[in-house]
Amino acid sequence: MERELEIRRRLREAGQEQLLRFWDELGSGERDSLLGELELLDARELREHCGRAQEAYERESGAPQRLDHRMRPVPPEFLGSVRRSRPEELRAWEEEGYRQISQNKVAVLLLAGGQGTRLGVTYPKGMYSVGLPSGKTLYQIQAERILRLQQLAGEKYSTRCTVPWYIMTSEFTLSPTLKFFEDHNFFGIDRPDVVLFEQRMLPAVGFDGLAILERKDKVAMAPDGNGGLYRALADNHILEDMEARGISYIHVYCVDNILVKMADPVFVGFCVTKGADCGAKVVEKSYPLEPVGVVCQVDGIYQVVEYSEISQDTAEKRDADGSLTYNAGNICNHFFTLDFLKNVAGTSEQQLGYHVAIKKVPYVDEEGNLAKPVRANGIKMEKFVFDVFQFAKNFVAFEVVREEEFSPLKNADTADKDTPTTARRALLWQHYRWALKAGAKFTNASGRAIAEKSGVPEAEDPSAVCEISPLISYFGEGLDLHLNNKVLSSPFILDAQRV
Ligand code: UTP
Repeated sequence: MERELEIRRRLREAGQEQLLRFWDELGSGERDSLLGELELLDARELREHCGRAQEAYERESGAPQRLDHRMRPVPPEFLGSVRRSRPEELRAWEEEGYRQISQNKVAVLLLAGGQGTRLGVTYPKGMYSVGLPSGKTLYQIQAERILRLQQLAGEKYSTRCTVPWYIMTSEFTLSPTLKFFEDHNFFGIDRPDVVLFEQRMLPAVGFDGLAILERKDKVAMAPDGNGGLYRALADNHILEDMEARGISYIHVYCVDNILVKMADPVFVGFCVTKGADCGAKVVEKSYPLEPVGVVCQVDGIYQVVEYSEISQDTAEKRDADGSLTYNAGNICNHFFTLDFLKNVAGTSEQQLGYHVAIKKVPYVDEEGNLAKPVRANGIKMEKFVFDVFQFAKNFVAFEVVREEEFSPLKNADTADKDTPTTARRALLWQHYRWALKAGAKFTNASGRAIAEKSGVPEAEDPSAVCEISPLISYFGEGLDLHLNNKVLSSPFILDAQRV
């Protein structure tokens, strides 16, 4: 009784008493679980959170704030590029990256706390299989890339090296992800080198400023955005773990990019060589009005400017050489030094603002029925991982080739971009290109030669299907040995058993 009274008092103070409106109908177990959830919410913080969500929603429903006149592109001396650099420069950066990896100084950190609502599956996105011939999931592909990279760096420098894999999960993704890894024996990675940790959750808020009940006995909660990383690092003592392992550099990436080059030696080497504390991999925009955020400066400070924050003229502006002035498309793929993360997680994190995400939030209606909204009905408040660029003392960006490095899985196949089909095709085209370059030829099931073909990767399947295990090749390296002058029957899988 006392517990209930205390919670009622807190909710009154927060202006959120509606969260107990079904109290009289709840059994004792349900009451217990609801009280347990509400006890974790501080009255003042809850009041502020709901007020802030409503204000931000109203602000963002108005005309977007334009940043055009305050923007500057990343200066050329801080912008590396795979396409524009000389081969010897790329080789030197790669060498440096390998050197750092071989000395166990590089870790990868996966952001995997998202709910994947657009993809619409009930399990974590990393467990999704996009329909490759091997049936591999995103998690397995990533695990195998780590194993191969450890092997490559180890062989180069005759060391036994480890690239620890930190995985940020949320209440939604932690247990299924852990179970999935256990069921697959951590895909061959040493158990202590995979560190799962959990980000915080925040209540979802209705447009009226009231927190939403998902069930009669459950508040609708959502993870606090991929920028919740910094608080989660501190909450879970992850930076101490990195320090104890001797890690100096961290490559942070999203779960949904099927082409992600984890701990990419070229990117790591570039950032280390430039003495950067914070870096972003970017891709050129596909077309001027593409709805992607652009890495640039605003009033001299680095940030990602959303496409809605710039006018069409600015989006289409070109330099003397014809390239787009604001062309550095953000792909949520970042380099940080451990010292930078310590500083952010320790103090600066609190300065990060929240972004408003308007989403469909399942709720319980006034009659107590569970409802799935057809239209967005709720506000989720999220921090973004890239909002820390402002704290960098030496920020760099590195432009990579989109078809080699970026194809995100965001939507179900009913959408026309960033779907399981486009992700699968992006990977299969890449492997097909690698195989041709290594000197392979393809035949169909009846032994007839398949003509070589180039195409628009995401619009159609390659003419021959070839999937190469990351355990054999991380970015197309070493394939001559296996594929030169080989005639392969499509579909073909090059995996560890075959070599
Ligand atoms: P997205 O912004 O694409 O969101 O996340 P999402 O949650 O996966 O999918 P939707 O918007 O519900 O459809 C980009 C990356 O950030 C991670 C995701 O797991 C993904 O790797 N993320 C997102 C988190 O780790 N935590 C969050 O709170 C949100």
